Amino acid sequence: MANDYLWIEGIPFPTSTVRDLRSLQDQFVVRDEDVITLSYPKSGTNWMREMISLIHTKGDPTWVQSTVIWKRSPWVETQAGLDILENQKDPRFYTSHLPIQFFPKSFFKSKAKSIYIMRNPKDVIVSGYHFWRTVKATRNPDSFEEYFQWFLQGNVAFGSWFDHIHGWLQMKGKDNFLLISYEELHQDTRTSVERVSQFLGVKLSPEELNSVLKNVSFQAMKDNKMSNFSLVPDTIVDHSKGNFMRKGITGDWKNHFTVAQSEAFDKVYREKMAGLPQGLFPWD
Ligand code: A3P
Repeated sequence: MANDYLWIEGIPFPTSTVRDLRSLQDQFVVRDEDVITLSYPKSGTNWMREMISLIHTKGDPTWVQSTVIWKRSPWVETQAGLDILENQKDPRFYTSHLPIQFFPKSFFKSKAKSIYIMRNPKDVIVSGYHFWRTVKATRNPDSFEEYFQWFLQGNVAFGSWFDHIHGWLQMKGKDNFLLISYEELHQDTRTSVERVSQFLGVKLSPEELNSVLKNVSFQAMKDNKMSNFSLVPDTIVDHSKGNFMRKGITGDWKNHFTVAQSEAFDKVYREKMAGLPQGLFPWD
């Protein structure tokens, strides 16, 4: 195992994360005009980023076809992202995988709009297994079983999925926080785009909505080199090991989990998610 995490207060982060997260948390000034994509990794973050970009341009694909996705909405927890943000004009768009307890404090007093995208954790495991094998800034699993165990222990990039979701769910019900799932996006992309655009206060004509839908499709993003991550340098990702735009489906866990893994996962899930209201998650 050549690569490893950056451990901060017992939580593993990719080594690209700023080391002094607590200073970032105190010093980064969130503005009321900001639009923030929040997620646990592999939950559909980039699908949401693309959707937000296209809603902002009212379906005009020029921006998504000319600027890489991580410059349109940089990661606030990386120095590279912070450098890009310095030159962004309002409204600023950015993205974060940070657990809530590390997120910039000024956010919680701002009117900035944030969208938390979540996904069936079993599919998050599958997507994560394939993705983190390619990334040089994290520990790389040798097998699916190995990654599965790390996931259950929370020893994967950005820590425990269970803690992440519990943390951010505290924001549910706030006017400036939209909770949406990968499964909803998948099942009814049109209604999801309408929900997101309404939340952002952008009115789309039927033609504009159709153009957003066309450009946010799995195939369109897979074909767009500004969005498919093929332009990430080889020093960061080993492209020979997999594609970022992998399958883009729901329920792929059924092709990966053994019966024993599924049962072991369900047991941990029931314990960790006990007490949350019924019907909150489309995968339950
Ligand atoms: P799979 O690995 O299951 O294919 P994130 O952006 O949070 O890293 O999530 C990546 C996952 O979202 C990948 O899932 C990827 O294929 C999927 N994805 C990205 N764009 C998508 C789109 N337009 N439609 C459906 N799935 C998409």
